[in-house]
Amino acid sequence: MNDALGGAQSVLVLGGASELGLATLRALDLRPGARVLLAGRSPEAMAAAAAEAGLAPSVTVSTTNWDARDTAGHEAFVEKAFAELGEVDLVLAPAGILGDQQRAETDPAHAVDIWETNFVGLAATLLSAAARLRTQGHGVLVVYSSVAGLRGRKANFVYGASKAGLDAFAEGLGASLAGTGVRLVLVRPGFVRGRMTAGMPAAPMATTPEAVGAAVAAAVAGRAEIVPVPRAVGPVFLVLRALPAKIFRRLPG
Ligand SMILES: NC(=O)c1ccc[n+]([C@@H]2O[C@H](COP(=O)([O-])OP(=O)(O)OC[C@H]3O[C@@H](n4cnc5c(N)ncnc54)[C@H](OP(=O)(O)O)[C@@H]3O)[C@@H](O)[C@H]2O)c1
Repeated sequence: MNDALGGAQSVLVLGGASELGLATLRALDLRPGARVLLAGRSPEAMAAAAAEAGLAPSVTVSTTNWDARDTAGHEAFVEKAFAELGEVDLVLAPAGILGDQQRAETDPAHAVDIWETNFVGLAATLLSAAARLRTQGHGVLVVYSSVAGLRGRKANFVYGASKAGLDAFAEGLGASLAGTGVRLVLVRPGFVRGRMTAGMPAAPMATTPEAVGAAVAAAVAGRAEIVPVPRAVGPVFLVLRALPAKIFRRLPG
């Protein structure tokens, strides 16, 4: 339950070793005694990433197994995670893979891996988590979409499609939660210089994991529901979205 000052006391992270997820945890106003449950495929990798991220020593961090692609196990996973944390104030959902666009175009199984991880599996887990938050009557869900989902580009349309699905799902889920005491924050980062994009040339308006974490923390503490990072990518993408396909296709990337 949020403490008297409003800071989150219990946080579930779907994708516990995520660079953006850990940057968000660092930026959040977690109170002494707060509990964080990191969920993912490798407890060792999550524990190591959390130690490296340097969370406050007064925060208790534990790990649990969760594979986004194991949809049959999600209901039991969410039940167990909520039982472990008691009431959950915040669910961060940064799990995701960029995948390899070129490989996906000739190996549909790889495309399925990207879609199942980024959209199908994550959305299914979020449905179960949202149902429990609804019952609690409070809590915030944070979904990490991407500007890549706003329009299909030849350079990354397989990943972009997964984010388009997740984005539409999250926007609708957020609308369905209005009036329940539960809020959904939909984050749309542009290009983030970090682990996922290592070795790639930075796109215009590139940002950092710290900036994403700070923007999410501000949204969690405030009332924002759609969070482009940096803020300027919001209006830029509104313009790009309105461009005729023939012109959009000629843009680099
Ligand atoms: N970085 C960017 O430029 C950028 C830009 C826009 C949006 N985003 C989105 O923001 C989110 C966070 O990105 P990030 O930079 O923090 O990525 P990251 O550091 O690579 O973290 C992604 C996390 O997802 C987990 N994951 C992958 N497949 C999984 C599965 N099947 N089941 C459970 N967990 C799984 C990874 O765990 P493992 O260690 O087990 O692989 C890792 O902890 C992603 O959804 C990404 O698409 C990122």
